[in-house]
Amino acid sequence: MRTKIYAGNWKMHYGPAETAAFFAELGEWLKGDKKTAAALNDAEIEVLIYPTAVCLESAARAIGLQNGQKLPFTIGAQNVHWESKGAFTGEISVSMAKEVGCSYVLVGHSERRHLFGETNEQTHKKIESVLAADMIAMLCVGELLEEREAGRTFAVIDAQLAEGLGNLVSQPDLADRIVIAYEPVWAIGTGKTASDLDAQQVCAHIREWIASRNAPAAKRLRILYGGSVKPENSAAIMAQPDIDGLLVGGASLAPSQFERILTAS
Ligand code: PGA
Repeated sequence: MRTKIYAGNWKMHYGPAETAAFFAELGEWLKGDKKTAAALNDAEIEVLIYPTAVCLESAARAIGLQNGQKLPFTIGAQNVHWESKGAFTGEISVSMAKEVGCSYVLVGHSERRHLFGETNEQTHKKIESVLAADMIAMLCVGELLEEREAGRTFAVIDAQLAEGLGNLVSQPDLADRIVIAYEPVWAIGTGKTASDLDAQQVCAHIREWIASRNAPAAKRLRILYGGSVKPENSAAIMAQPDIDGLLVGGASLAPSQFERILTAS
């Protein structure tokens, strides 16, 4: 069985105080939701939040990472640099993210690719340094609307996988170290969700692509869908056989919405 992941990508939202308040509210809610608490406890599901870099410390404190983890949530960094240190103004390193309590790093999010020019080659270097630090890389892949309309969805995703993963794809423990998130760019923040069948088709393709290079890992690999996920559409997406989780942007900012997503599916 693959542990399901519900991940919230906060992008450039919330400061330290709002971050602490979010986790306090989610923690209170969890006390009253025994089913979700048991699912977290039994590792049937995992709840992961990517706050802004300056709020990681606040998030780590809120979930009690430094003193025996009070709340069963994990945190990740939205972005890292692949070098361990140096003259890279504005960047953070993998070891800094790890030291503050991150177990995941988001790599190649479409906003990084399309607003900040992140290339497949850079995603590969980032994944290498994340794995070297014994953290989990969540690689985002997805096509632009014009690429979908030109029938190039699979070709774009194949290139993002091939160049992003490189020779790491044959690692025996790939499924423990990498998660793939399929996020069609045209569905992110637009209110347009891929239909559950379209999302399934691409996620199945991703699993087959991995299977042809590393069959044992493909069965265990977690593949998420992201792009305008809401409480209203999350259950149908999660019901698809090749979708093991959700990467949620806007709807992860309000605890009440995020809770409904966690419990709807
Ligand atoms: P959205 O963002 O849910 O607001 O569309 C998803 C994402 O960018 O990860």
